[in-house]
Amino acid sequence: MELYNSLAPWMPLLTPAENYRLEASIYRRLFLSHNPRTRTVLELGCGAGNNASHLKQRFTMTLTDRSPQMLRLSRSQNPECTHVQGDMRTLRLKQRFDAVFIHDAIAYMQTVDELKEALATAYVHCEPGGQVLIQPDYFTETFKAGTSHGGIDRDGRGMRYLMWVEEPQPDSHFYNTHFAFLLRHEDGSVTAEQETHTMGLFSEAQWLESLAAVGLTGEILQEPYADQGIPYLQLISARRPAP
Ligand SMILES: C[S@@+](CC[C@H](N)C(=O)[O-])C[C@H]1O[C@@H](n2cnc3c(N)ncnc32)[C@H](O)[C@@H]1O
Repeated sequence: MELYNSLAPWMPLLTPAENYRLEASIYRRLFLSHNPRTRTVLELGCGAGNNASHLKQRFTMTLTDRSPQMLRLSRSQNPECTHVQGDMRTLRLKQRFDAVFIHDAIAYMQTVDELKEALATAYVHCEPGGQVLIQPDYFTETFKAGTSHGGIDRDGRGMRYLMWVEEPQPDSHFYNTHFAFLLRHEDGSVTAEQETHTMGLFSEAQWLESLAAVGLTGEILQEPYADQGIPYLQLISARRPAP
């Protein structure tokens, strides 16, 4: 995915960290309501570290992603956090955390088997009694096709994007998100890029079964949000049972 590779230097113009303040405050509250003593948090698929840039004010964050370019961005935004390159399906750090966080990166798991691999990674890194908090973009039951656009100007460059979330085929476990990017370079020239990301789509029952299969007990939450036209955030809060 070029968005997370050659286009990564444009990311701060696509999703600036200030846009994540409200949602990060929801994640912070959920971590603390699970356990007021939550201190260490592992994020799988940290991207540019936008949520982490807010969460690090309260938690000690370890940030992981499979893309070196995205880790570079996150390091520059969050130099005080530990960064490790790794795929969420296979990462093993030999360390456990009070909570494990997976934000919209989980959408890149395209099959139930891949989903279970990522959840198993979350399980092994979670302290017994700890929390795994996941923000999937959609469940099958709540999927909504649509388009959105955005982007900003900063430091002599500009970017605008169109994101088209396409209706999946009936009974499909995938949906396609098409991106069109217009990039205005420092010299004023404008170039265009396009790519399609294929994302996994699972029902609430498949999520709960996959969590149970790796040893996690999960529940689905809807947290009021009311920003950017989104009425609520759909989340999964799971617990690694204490022995
Ligand atoms: C939209 S970004 C995540 C945003 C991030 N949570 C934040 O708060 O800024 C999605 C990230 O998922 C990462 N990703 C996709 N598949 C992955 C995998 N299998 N393992 C680890 N990271 C992955 C991509 O490299 C990308 O950086």
